[in-house]
Amino acid sequence: MPGRTWGASAPAKVILLGEHAVVFGKPAVSVAIGLRLRCQIRPGTISSLNGIPLGPHDHSYVSACLAKHNAPPTAVLTDSDFPSGSGLGSSAAVTVALLAALRSSKDGFKEDLVAREAFEVECEVQRRASPIDTSTCTHGNGILVQRERGENFLWEISRDTRRWCVHDLKVPKMTLVVGFTGKSKPTGPLVAKVKRYVDHNTFARDIVDEIGDVTMEGVRQMAMGDLEALGRNMTKDHKLLAILGVSSRELDKLVSSVLPYSYGAKLTGAGGGGSMVALTDQPQ
Ligand code: PMV
Repeated sequence: MPGRTWGASAPAKVILLGEHAVVFGKPAVSVAIGLRLRCQIRPGTISSLNGIPLGPHDHSYVSACLAKHNAPPTAVLTDSDFPSGSGLGSSAAVTVALLAALRSSKDGFKEDLVAREAFEVECEVQRRASPIDTSTCTHGNGILVQRERGENFLWEISRDTRRWCVHDLKVPKMTLVVGFTGKSKPTGPLVAKVKRYVDHNTFARDIVDEIGDVTMEGVRQMAMGDLEALGRNMTKDHKLLAILGVSSRELDKLVSSVLPYSYGAKLTGAGGGGSMVALTDQPQ
């Protein structure tokens, strides 16, 4: 990283179908949205984030990215259009933007390499993860993750017995409204809670399977441009996620208050707080 500044940015994302179940290898669909996180790096005397020295246990995603690249002391500056813990993928966006800047400072940006490294960082910090967030923040557009390789295949990522094939997904023109509960919840503990439930309960395993089915149905509805049916499946997905224990009173309230004006609505991301997404043609 010779003495100059390098920068990259990554978009926020909204998971339309399949969160949590995707960690078990089920399919999921997400789209990048028009909010971005920007990151700049330059050589420093010590590593820092936005001017504050970076201790070994601070800002785990940023520290893990620097460690992964054996980076010399680096000053990292970030600036984001969206809050962290909002379910819009801020940890994936900061990871992807920083890794892309680090790669650009060395041998240049390579999309699949950044997506892979970002997934590894997320697994390291979060313990369990799927590549849906990090792949969406790297590639943009719409993303479909599924076990089998299909049309518009981008890259494959695997971990233990799980395999995810990541695809670019053509998304029909649609209007989404995002509602933030104002409560931030870290993803790791929610993912761990679902794992405990699934490990000990066949009913929870059935719910995860059903989320997989609802997601694949949604992919077909999207291809046909049937937003009404897609919306119904999003609402169904919300109810399944609530059974898995990752919704909250605020999320349920947001979903039920927008449903009269929407094709469908659901929590998006890890849940517990974070955000709700509604598919609608009455965004006001
Ligand atoms: O809330 P977010 O942006 O961290 O989304 C998490 C999505 C999960 O499916 C819950 C976890 C994952 O790694 O796929």
